[in-house]
Amino acid sequence: MIPESSIRAQLPSTLRQLDLPGLGELYRGKVRDNYSRGDRIVMITTDRVSAFDHVLGTIPFKGEVLSRLTLFWFDKVKDLAPTHLIDAPDPSVMVVKRAKALPVEIVIRGYITGSLWRDYQAGKAGAYGIAWPKGLKKDQRFDQPIITPSTKAEYGKHDEPISEAEILKQGLVAPEVWREATAIAHRLFQRGQEWAASRGLILVDTKYEMGLADGKLVVIDEIHTPDSSRYWVAEGYEERFARGAEQEMLDKENIRQWLIKEHGFSGHGQPPPLSDDVRVMLAQKYIEAFERLTGTAFESQVGSVAARIEKNLKAKGYL
Ligand SMILES: Nc1ncnc2c1ncn2[C@@H]1O[C@H](COP(=O)(O)OP(=O)(O)O)[C@@H](O)[C@H]1O
Ligand SMILES: [Mg+2]
Repeated sequence: MIPESSIRAQLPSTLRQLDLPGLGELYRGKVRDNYSRGDRIVMITTDRVSAFDHVLGTIPFKGEVLSRLTLFWFDKVKDLAPTHLIDAPDPSVMVVKRAKALPVEIVIRGYITGSLWRDYQAGKAGAYGIAWPKGLKKDQRFDQPIITPSTKAEYGKHDEPISEAEILKQGLVAPEVWREATAIAHRLFQRGQEWAASRGLILVDTKYEMGLADGKLVVIDEIHTPDSSRYWVAEGYEERFARGAEQEMLDKENIRQWLIKEHGFSGHGQPPPLSDDVRVMLAQKYIEAFERLTGTAFESQVGSVAARIEKNLKAKGYL
């Protein structure tokens, strides 16, 4: 692992945003700065971190970890479904084929935890149209992975749970497209769980985005990253589950827990500022997830991420 002193040294040089109007039309999401021109998007994964649909600040090396992990996973699943990837001119940048994104996110879960657990416990998990068994325990494994779709919300709003029946009734997605999208999600998730297991991790749940490009369904955005997924350490899962203890997490739930427990923040009002110590701790979690999943040490350079990206984009003719 990159030493803590390097992570600290990177704190002032993280990538908050990148203004490169020469790349095309900007859509600034919570995490990525997306420049589109024609049927291509240059997706710059910044170091921004969001939770409960709010941007909280930046985490050293986060953009690079996410972008490189997505590349890693795209390669691992390339026999299962086409993806939007065209080129990766920088460790934090992907050039992708622009698709017409489905207006729903395909969340697939192997375990009941997080927001679903909170809703289930409060008797509010009905919106998915799923007949949840009674008496489930927190962090319990489902017999089969379950898809809990959500609508894709605008900035500051929350994604809303939606049922398959409602998606079809409202015509948000055509039935045959929905059938294919969910089949792809199950295949991707199975591959993801198998790989994670081989690395001593549990892929607990994840979120896929898919879109139509040239009439074909493609996997877009990111996959199986700690932002879009939950990962637990496999060793000790059963024992922790049996005594009702927290699982050992390598994902964004760390920041959600910090916000809820230390600041009572769960998405309403102004989020608290991130201390440098929390930013370093979260960087270590992201890097640990990268190293455990890929089995390789994470190496990077301390210094301006923006300058590096501009240099690489120029060298490869994108600027
Ligand atoms: N190939 C693609 N075609 C069109 N849109 C895409 C593609 N890949 C990703 N996107 C969209 O680009 C955005 C990526 O930036 P992000 O910071 O994740 O935004 P958001 O805050 O909307 O989640 C997302 O809105 C995602 O749906
Ligand atoms: Mg996103």
